[in-house]
Amino acid sequence: MSGKPIAVASDHAGYDLKAALAEALVAMGYEIVDLGTDGPDSVDYPDFAKAMIRAIVEGRVERGVLVCGTGVGISIAANRHPGIRAALCHNETTARLAREHNDANVLALGARIVGVEVAKDCLKAFLTTEFAGGRHEKRVAKLADGG
Ligand code: RB5
Repeated sequence: MSGKPIAVASDHAGYDLKAALAEALVAMGYEIVDLGTDGPDSVDYPDFAKAMIRAIVEGRVERGVLVCGTGVGISIAANRHPGIRAALCHNETTARLAREHNDANVLALGARIVGVEVAKDCLKAFLTTEFAGGRHEKRVAKLADGG
């Protein structure tokens, strides 16, 4: 992985978990780019998925973490861009395989679904697992062709 910062973004439902994960990232030595939201007031998750898309497309970051209540809405929104491979993960195994098989560049989590320790396990697996390549290369390439 490059030395680029990791972006974090959430809606209001994901705000507390995003803050905990941002703190964990800093403790692990990563620089972070916090794309909001900045408090518990109600906001719309697509806006924060779009901020993540822009940060990745513009090359400010290569990887990011998105959090909403379930992780569903914010991952759907992020995956509308062909350059985003956002994986909604619920445990260390899904996060590891999302990197190994899918070369996921965004980890999506549901703050109302997973606890903070499971979320941190997902984060560590997401950051430390390399894409396996090989038979997965052509499949991941097909994800970006819109077909
Ligand atoms: C917000 O209440 C909630 O709908 C949102 O965080 C997310 O779970 C949507 O998928």
